[in-house]
This record gives sequence, structure tokens and C-alpha cells, in this order.
Amino acid sequence: ETERTLVLVKPDGVTRQLTGEVLRRVEAKGYRIVALELRTADRDLLARHYAEHQGKPFFEPLVEFMLSGPIVAAVVEGQRVIEGFRSLAGTTDPTAAAPGTIRGDLGRDWGTAVVQNLVHGSDSPESAAREIGLWFPAL
Ligand code: CMP
Repeated sequence: ETERTLVLVKPDGVTRQLTGEVLRRVEAKGYRIVALELRTADRDLLARHYAEHQGKPFFEPLVEFMLSGPIVAAVVEGQRVIEGFRSLAGTTDPTAAAPGTIRGDLGRDWGTAVVQNLVHGSDSPESAAREIGLWFPAL
């Protein structure tokens, strides 16, 4: 059956005007965008979104980075879309991510404390349900 995932174009992607490119790839793959919003996050939302990273050395730089500009948040739907979007996104480290992926084609290391890797995608059905509830409570 179909499932849903939360996709974020992080502030580096929005600032670099890659939102259209990211959404184009999502749509070209055949997934459906069911909710879409440009917004600036706040600390409370980010602390909840990244709860599993609390206490890690990159947590504060990660939150500061995610506050540094607007984010495009989307709910994307399709069969196996959680796995499928993570495949489109590529691995966390954009320098090592495979060409053909969003991070591999469009991302690189900028020497910052936190890895700027353009996009977020939920990593499991449980994460997707939790994250969609945080970003789109009305859905
Ligand atoms: P993502 O996997 O979308 O969510 C957690 C983010 O934390 C990750 O992308 C990177 O931006 C960042 N991150 C994860 N691991 C590290 C690390 N070891 N050093 C710096 N940043 C990291």
C-alpha cells in the first residue's frame, strides 16, 4: 500500500535555489506531493525533529544551521516512498554520495561544523509518522 514520508529541503538547498530541482526529481520518480510549505523552523520544532541527536557534538551546529534560513517541507506519497526518497537523496556525506543522487550531484563539503546535505527524508515508517505530525499537524 502507499506510504508517506517527510521531505525537507534544508536551508542550504533553499538558499542555493535548488528547491525546484529537488521537487522535480521527486515528481519525476513518480511520487506525489500531498503537502508543501516554505517556512522558517523554530528551536522547539527542531529539538523535537532531531530528538535522537540531542547530546551529540553536532546537535547545536545542526540546529543553528536549520535555523539559518527558510526550509521547504513536503509530505510525499507513493509505494515504498520512504526507502525510495532516501535512495534519491543519497548517503549523508555529500562528498561521498553517489553521482545520480541529490546529495551526490548537488552537494559537497563546505568545511562547516555540521554537514550541509540539502535534504532530509524520514528513515522509517515510525519516523515518518512522527515527523509528519510535527511539521504538518493538520494532516
Ligand atoms: P540527516 O541525516 O538528514 O540528519 C542528521 C544530520 O546531522 C545529518 O543529516 C547531517 O546534516 C548532520 N550530521 C550527522 N552526522 C554528522 C557528523 N558526524 N558531523 C556533522 N554533522 C553530522
